[in-house]
Amino acid sequence: MKITSICCIGAGYVGGPTMAIIAQKCPHIKVTVVDLNEERIAAWNDPDVNNIPIFEPGLSDMVGEARGRNLFFTTEVEKGIDEAQMIFISVNTPTKTYGLGKGMAADLKYIELCARQIASVAKDNKIVVEKSTLPVRTAEAVKNILDNTGNGVQFQILSNPEFLAEGTAVEDLLNPDRVLIGGNDAQAIESLVEIYANWVSRDKILTTNLWSSELSKLTANAFLAQRVSSINALSEVCEKTGADVNEVARAIGMDSRIGSKFLKASVGFGGSCFQKDILNLVYIAKSYGLDEVADYWEQVVIMNDHQKRRFAHKIVQTLYNTVSGKKIAFLGWAFKKDTNDTRESAAIDVADYLLLEQAKVAVFDPKVGEKQVRYDLAYSATNELSNIDKNVTVYQDPYEACKGSHAIAVLTEWDEFKNYDWKRIFDSMHKPAFVFDGRNILDAKKMKEIGFVFSSVGSAY
Ligand code: UDX
Ligand code: UDX
Repeated sequence: MKITSICCIGAGYVGGPTMAIIAQKCPHIKVTVVDLNEERIAAWNDPDVNNIPIFEPGLSDMVGEARGRNLFFTTEVEKGIDEAQMIFISVNTPTKTYGLGKGMAADLKYIELCARQIASVAKDNKIVVEKSTLPVRTAEAVKNILDNTGNGVQFQILSNPEFLAEGTAVEDLLNPDRVLIGGNDAQAIESLVEIYANWVSRDKILTTNLWSSELSKLTANAFLAQRVSSINALSEVCEKTGADVNEVARAIGMDSRIGSKFLKASVGFGGSCFQKDILNLVYIAKSYGLDEVADYWEQVVIMNDHQKRRFAHKIVQTLYNTVSGKKIAFLGWAFKKDTNDTRESAAIDVADYLLLEQAKVAVFDPKVGEKQVRYDLAYSATNELSNIDKNVTVYQDPYEACKGSHAIAVLTEWDEFKNYDWKRIFDSMHKPAFVFDGRNILDAKKMKEIGFVFSSVGSAY
């Protein structure tokens, strides 16, 4: 089938950028992105393209070029489904917060809702593409629902997991390492291959069976997260032994078998995918009775929780075992630089620990505003105990955030933090002035020359 109309359900961090790039690269295809969230759709349609709801370098230009030409954002879900030959499901699949598999399994209720809606609306044959990260064999459930509740039309299911990373979404979509398409029907697969082939060379488009494709996505995230937890585990050893984790990472990363990426020690990984996908893998393994496999992968998440807690404890310990009433400035709230996404950000947990110790937390992030910070903390474990309204202040100016603080904690690796006037910041702080660099981005030597008591992750400074 030559595809000329696509619908994507879910205008989030995955659906939005992916469809913008498809629309930009395939002017012959009409791309409609639908979402139940009216506010989000209105933001995607904002006449000022800089106000789209997701910040990603280069994205607003892409949207600006295609929007209104062959890229449309709407809340008219049924119409979108009806008119499309190919439907991408890109809704969220959060970890279950109730019932069986609580805290581990993926909550598939939105996926099921989408499948039921597609089935009830579709009047002609459609290809349904799973874009959301899903447990293995979800395609089977989706196919079942489609076939049993539909109007007798044919559905083909494909799995096409997205590997883009936030902050580099546009670049990752334009130049992917690979595109993965899983499916059982050669024609349906070819229809999707043809779309990507408009800008990705065919040797980078891998086709597999459905289950391999679904499992590959979970596996890729599990491996990446495992590397971060591995280097973070070593960072603690470095702090005890006098080794420097940056030097160790460099030394091992030059071994081409190991490679240099994802070896940056940090306060802990965050983001909507790593923890969720590993827990998902753990749950799947457990459900097949593979307890050793489950325990192995769960350790990656346990290590990450430890790293976040350890960072917060270090702050408390260094500040003479009490942060009660002390202003602690947070530079960064997003889970990584160049994104406004805060889901599972390490900053949230670190703030949570410090608030329990009665610290006054002062937050500055170049792209995250007050509303989001308060929202994140409202859902944190200790909300009721820590009086967030009173003890958290969100600043629009980093120098104001740091002024009068006892310590600064760097939680996100934003480039601009490196270029601040650190002497000016030092002069405005209580002494001794502590800096805890949770991202190892500041120059330790210079910071110490200025007078800071400086500590980073994974070295014995
Ligand atoms: C999500 C998942 O987190 C990820 O695992 C998966 O690979 C893709 O989907 P993301 O795009 O980052 O990633 O999620 P989010 O930004 O929450 O966007 C999902 C959108 O779907 C939301 O805007 C939500 O309103 C919308 N949605 C959800 C629907 O339109 N209909 C639904 O039934 C449920
Ligand atoms: C990840 C995967 O990389 C991507 O392929 C998948 O589609 C979605 O999940 P993302 O979560 O956007 O992408 O960001 P990523 O760059 O992988 O970083 C995840 C977390 O790990 C961030 O908090 C980051 O700061 C942290 N990290 C990453 C480290 O602490 N050290 C590293 O060396 C790399």
